[in-house]
Amino acid sequence: MTFGFCLSVTLLLLVWSTAKCVPVPDGAVHMECHDRYFKMAVDLSFAEGELRFEAVDETGVHPILKQYAAKCGYSIVPLPGHVELRASYFSCHTDNKGDQVFTFNFNLIVMHEGREVTYAVSKTCSPSLPWSPREVTCELNYMEVSVRSEVSCPSGTKKDDWNSLKAAHSSTTSDWQVMFHRAEEQLLPMNLSEARKQDYVLDLTDGRLLFRTPYGQPESFSTEVDGVPVEVVHATLFSRQSWVVLMVDMVAACSMFEGSYDHSGYVVWKTTAALYPSHDATQINIGFNGRLVTQPTAMERGYIIDKDNSTILISIPYNAEEAQRKSFVTGDLYEYYTFNFYLEQILVDDDHVETRVQSHRTLVTSLLPHAVFSDNLTVLEERIFSVYLRDVPEDVELAAVQLNGHEFTIPLTNASMHTVTEVVQPNSTHGYSLRVPFDSPVVINKFSKEDAVFQYSLDIIFTLTVMPENEPFYHLTSVVALFTDVSSPVFDAVCSESGISFKLDHQPFHYLWEISIGSDLLTSELAAQHGYIMSNSSQSLLLHVPLFTHGYEYKNVTLKEYFGTFEILVRDHETSEIQSSTVKTCPFNTTTELIVCSTDGRMTVVADLSPVVSSGVIPARTSLIREHCGPIEADNTRVLFSFPLHTCGSIIKVGRGNVTYRNEISYNKNNAVSTNTSERVTVQCTYPLAGLHRLFSVFRFESDAAGVGSINYPAQPQTGLHSPKTRYLPVFHPRAQNVRFPRVQHNSGVIRGPNGWS
Ligand SMILES: *[C@@H]1O[C@H](CO)[C@@H](O)[C@H](O)[C@H]1NC(C)=O
Ligand SMILES: *[C@@H]1O[C@H](CO)[C@@H](O)[C@H](O)[C@H]1NC(C)=O
Ligand SMILES: *[C@@H]1O[C@H](CO)[C@@H](O)[C@H](O)[C@H]1NC(C)=O
Ligand SMILES: *[C@@H]1O[C@H](CO)[C@@H](O)[C@H](O)[C@H]1NC(C)=O
Ligand SMILES: *[C@@H]1O[C@H](CO)[C@@H](O)[C@H](O)[C@H]1NC(C)=O
Ligand SMILES: *[C@@H]1O[C@H](CO)[C@@H](O)[C@H](O)[C@H]1NC(C)=O
Ligand SMILES: *[C@@H]1O[C@H](CO)[C@@H](O)[C@H](O)[C@H]1NC(C)=O
Ligand SMILES: *[C@@H]1O[C@H](CO)[C@@H](O)[C@H](O)[C@H]1NC(C)=O
Ligand SMILES: *[C@@H]1O[C@H](CO)[C@@H](O)[C@H](O)[C@H]1NC(C)=O
Ligand SMILES: *[C@@H]1O[C@H](CO)[C@@H](O)[C@H](O)[C@H]1NC(C)=O
Repeated sequence: MTFGFCLSVTLLLLVWSTAKCVPVPDGAVHMECHDRYFKMAVDLSFAEGELRFEAVDETGVHPILKQYAAKCGYSIVPLPGHVELRASYFSCHTDNKGDQVFTFNFNLIVMHEGREVTYAVSKTCSPSLPWSPREVTCELNYMEVSVRSEVSCPSGTKKDDWNSLKAAHSSTTSDWQVMFHRAEEQLLPMNLSEARKQDYVLDLTDGRLLFRTPYGQPESFSTEVDGVPVEVVHATLFSRQSWVVLMVDMVAACSMFEGSYDHSGYVVWKTTAALYPSHDATQINIGFNGRLVTQPTAMERGYIIDKDNSTILISIPYNAEEAQRKSFVTGDLYEYYTFNFYLEQILVDDDHVETRVQSHRTLVTSLLPHAVFSDNLTVLEERIFSVYLRDVPEDVELAAVQLNGHEFTIPLTNASMHTVTEVVQPNSTHGYSLRVPFDSPVVINKFSKEDAVFQYSLDIIFTLTVMPENEPFYHLTSVVALFTDVSSPVFDAVCSESGISFKLDHQPFHYLWEISIGSDLLTSELAAQHGYIMSNSSQSLLLHVPLFTHGYEYKNVTLKEYFGTFEILVRDHETSEIQSSTVKTCPFNTTTELIVCSTDGRMTVVADLSPVVSSGVIPARTSLIREHCGPIEADNTRVLFSFPLHTCGSIIKVGRGNVTYRNEISYNKNNAVSTNTSERVTVQCTYPLAGLHRLFSVFRFESDAAGVGSINYPAQPQTGLHSPKTRYLPVFHPRAQNVRFPRVQHNSGVIRGPNGWS
């Protein structure tokens, strides 16, 4: 195609020196030959700003401006997406060869990157449809009538015509004159140059006489025929040569009905068949975008054609295939439909002379509201808000989304945790799928402890813009996701030989709470520090607390068994308030020695005397420093002592930062308590002084922290007794008991409780 244009343009350059040959890009201009006119459609995406046309012929370049277009037979029609230029085959600057071959040269001037570019275009058409004796075109901006120059004499000459003849007869000139008739009134004749000055075109082609006028000329008149508003121009063209008067009557009458939209879904246009005398039923063809179809075909497509007396009513479904839809914003979204509508009436009068009337009209519906909808497709289990915005017209785009007040432009960045996906629907709408995870920082969540209900909420404002105007409108929606029966974490606990194992199955809302051991938050660092074995997967948290690690409390110690208690606290994430706890107490076999220094000031010791038993020591006969403090329990090899720290002759030593209570398990081989220091097992509990701030003010032992105990065996390699060894058993929970605690005496750093403490 481009090649074709260029070729013809190159030939034209000989006469047409001002234009440059810039080939029109493929697809930018569509040119078509129609029955009675050229049609050029210029794609708007090709022209940045305004575009202009110039008609070109051997006389020069003629800008097609508004008034000039109406006079010369050009129509420029802005339509959605493109601009249409229609040029009558009889337009001023069209080359006409025998009313058969028409060539139209024009310049298309568009802005490209801020400068004007002129494209020279040419089109030649040979209409296949033969010309009727009379042709009337009711264009958007002009009326045109052409008649065959040799018309057989009409059978019935009307009175009006004889009236005209009088004026013709009185005319002194032999040149062609034109005389207008307005209703009953006859206006003074004017010569052709005068008429041309008044924007009338009267022309003679090879076989036809042409008359064209813009609408609203002083010589035309508006009337109503069968309830249809009509503009009529009636011109009589005559020439008197001596006693012969040549006279041609030219009438153009066009329906000026603008079309109505009655919200029944049809756009209605009407005209009347009474404008031109006819005896036959009028043949009607309907065209859209320049393509004519016959009446039955039109009716198949859903158009309704009614004839009421001579009024012709055409009803077109507003959403007919041929309609051009456009979105429009005034506050909300509206749409309107434009019909590039075309009606052809063929009328035959009593002399079988055919008149072809072609009416071009642009019909526009009123603004119809168009709603876009959003569907809530959220599935709670996915923990993602999913909203589908649907019924978005093709010429509307999603520009931004506001999520709880946070603005995100479309497209979203790849890093975004939100997604927007466009979905194209077959019914020329499209939709957008928005997904926002519940965990997104933009999502607002609210927890009601009283109702055990957790709520996520998201207010969405979609910003949509109508293209190409970029006019925005908004669609608002809110989604919520409600979780009921939300409870704080609960651990399962099981006892094992080596300690206690806790297990927590993660729930989505567990982040509302934190888990602590005492006052310390449970972290992998804390676990490592205290020797807990922790593994945390996405499903569950496993915590194994081995015996004798930090946090245990030991109770009811016997030589057979004792009880170890471990507590996990669940605190409010924000206030750190304790919400709940899991306490597990397990029995453990007393297999070896054990020392417990409780916070309430009691030392509990299980000592293993097996190495000395063989040399005659009877465990039940052993005692502490105060000899009446014997073991609570003894078996063949082991002894259990449990006594308040200050009793039984404990030696108290205040060191730097801590206080140590020491006692001794004495035995001798002769079944008597020995004074021999190498026949004693030392047991001691050490407490940090800082945690005993009340030690000297109240008569009660109360420690914030556990004591650290140790059991020291004397070095007796020859007997095979254990080398000095220590076991530290912190006792954690402050469970103070009211132990009477007498005043202590200071004695050069060694504090010894007086006799008789209990
Ligand atoms: C046409 O009519 C006008 C005004 O009546 C007159 O001035 C002019 O000379 C006429 N032109 C010709 C060519 O007769
Ligand atoms: C059609 O013509 C008939 C008879 O001439 C007349 O009674 C009727 O009112 C006309 N209808 C309209 C809509 O003009
Ligand atoms: C985002 O992802 C798309 C598709 O995966 C890729 O083509 C594009 O380059 C990415 N953009 C950035 C900025 O990473
Ligand atoms: C278009 O199609 C989609 C999907 O089938 C449907 O949800 C929507 O309602 C349709 N819209 C119109 C205007 O018909
Ligand atoms: C949206 O869908 C979720 C999940 O089905 C539901 O809980 C919620 O009530 C729905 N409605 C709104 C307005 O969010
Ligand atoms: C365990 O992992 C979950 C996520 O899988 C995390 O939310 C939680 O804080 C972790 N708990 C601990 C104690 O590290
Ligand atoms: C420890 O002994 C006391 C008194 O005999 C008893 O009440 C308590 O239940 C025992 N504790 C455990 C954990 O067995
Ligand atoms: C204690 O020892 C007995 C006998 O050996 C055994 O059956 C039991 O399982 C042990 N209990 C614990 C808590 O280790
Ligand atoms: C007691 O205090 C001394 C001196 O500060 C220190 O060396 C020692 O480790 C402490 N003992 C304990 C068990 O805290
Ligand atoms: C103390 O006992 C050890 C070991 O039984 C013994 O060797 C030592 O002679 C005793 N000392 C006294 C003073 O009895």
